[in-house]
Amino acid sequence: MSEQPILVGVIGGSGLYKLDNLNFIDTVNPETPWGFPSSPIQIAELPSGIRIAFLARHGEFHQHAPSEVPAQANIAALKHIGVQAIVAFSAVGSLQEEIAPGDFVIPSGIIDRTKGIRPSSYFEKVGIVAHAMFGDAFDNNLSEFLAPKVRQVLEAHPEGSVKLHEKKTVVVMEGPAFSTRAESLMYRQIGGDIINMSTIPEAKLAREAELSYALICTSTDYDAWRVSEEPVTVAEVVKTLTKNANISKLITVECLDAVHHAVAEGKITSAAKGGMQYSIITKP
Ligand code: ADE
Repeated sequence: MSEQPILVGVIGGSGLYKLDNLNFIDTVNPETPWGFPSSPIQIAELPSGIRIAFLARHGEFHQHAPSEVPAQANIAALKHIGVQAIVAFSAVGSLQEEIAPGDFVIPSGIIDRTKGIRPSSYFEKVGIVAHAMFGDAFDNNLSEFLAPKVRQVLEAHPEGSVKLHEKKTVVVMEGPAFSTRAESLMYRQIGGDIINMSTIPEAKLAREAELSYALICTSTDYDAWRVSEEPVTVAEVVKTLTKNANISKLITVECLDAVHHAVAEGKITSAAKGGMQYSIITKP
């Protein structure tokens, strides 16, 4: 295991299975009370020598379906190795005209449309009842710290400036099939801007584990709401995945040093740490 503190964890989504642009140090695969994580965790070094942890949400070979991702083990494993802040990536469909495929989004809200079949709490069947604060579903401190840094990377992209959208709402659906056209239209009406299948329960579990958690989304398609277009297929999603993954790797190199230092100085994680203190309702 690494002797240097590993304060920042990265969770890769569809298309982002490895940080092969960084100096590889080690892999660790801790067994947690909730089992093993989706994939062994890669410990990698940024050019500055700072170490980060990387976990492929769907496994290295994309073998875990969204409903089967062992999210409890993933968050527990990252916490176990010392991570305090998680920067998660996710491919998303766009529910708004102005969010085009290829654009990046840092959302601030979640609408949970999963079906309640994913274990989404550490406080189930343990004899202790807790209700985490989840009104602000992401750590705004971390999202707002990241946004200008991510924007700088995107604007300077050698193949042309890439757009970043902020303060958007992500609808999280169960899947694995994509939405019907009628559902896609409904998600727009209820305030959704983008859609994926993975941020719940990950964000909830990170909150319960008192980890700071922010999401960087890469838009791959217009889902199924645009009547003039064919509804989304995997082939369409895959079209932009490689380019999006390469930009995500660039973001990790350019932005995570600053996140590490801010976490080390207590500038980011203060809200997350100790956040569960007043959430337990069970009498001692
Ligand atoms: N991930 C990427 N595109 C998606 C979509 N349209 N719906 C749900 N998850 C997605």
